[in-house]
Amino acid sequence: MRLVVLISGSGSNLQAIIDAIDSGHLDAKIALVVSNRQSAYGLQRADAAGIPTLYFPLKPYRDAGQPRNLYDTDLADQIALHTPDLIVLAGWMHILSPAFLNRFPRQVINLHPALPGTFPGTDGIRRTYEAYQRGEVEHGGCMIHYVIPEVDAGDVIVKEIVPIEPGDTLEQFEEHIHAAEHRIIVEAIRLIAGAGSAK
Ligand code: GRF
Repeated sequence: MRLVVLISGSGSNLQAIIDAIDSGHLDAKIALVVSNRQSAYGLQRADAAGIPTLYFPLKPYRDAGQPRNLYDTDLADQIALHTPDLIVLAGWMHILSPAFLNRFPRQVINLHPALPGTFPGTDGIRRTYEAYQRGEVEHGGCMIHYVIPEVDAGDVIVKEIVPIEPGDTLEQFEEHIHAAEHRIIVEAIRLIAGAGSAK
């Protein structure tokens, strides 16, 4: 299973995949790590693991007044060179248009730090926590889903409920979410690899 992983931040979920491969828990190879932000610590994690990286920012396209789907098309071209079986959005903060998604049908999965149908978009952890404080939700969670043009709405592959205790701070809840994310992102790839390859 050849993976390309897209990140924008710390890359702790990327690290979970790297660790699962290194421990033999996941039979896969990360062919490339892409980040839209040069300062993303995840790029250093990839370097440390000897994984090729690509810094691919949107800004030059915006500054040149070029359309978003040109960025998406060029990004897809770069990724296709690495012949991925699966593209994993692990904290990737850009919305990908059909210009990208149509190049990799049912091959793009995304990690979202909330349960299906709840808190789509950014800042899901804090929004969940505040909804809990208002008595609107009883717990949080996270999920891995196939990416479709509608944000955070494709078929769910794996999800995990994450309890919130009354005394939990946002930071404690966030730690519990990230621990769950690190489990489900590996589990989702294992499920897809198992389903995809004949035994
Ligand atoms: C995760 O919480 C993910 O759900 C959100 O961004 C965070 C990425 O964390 N979209 P990391 O970069 O993998 O540490």
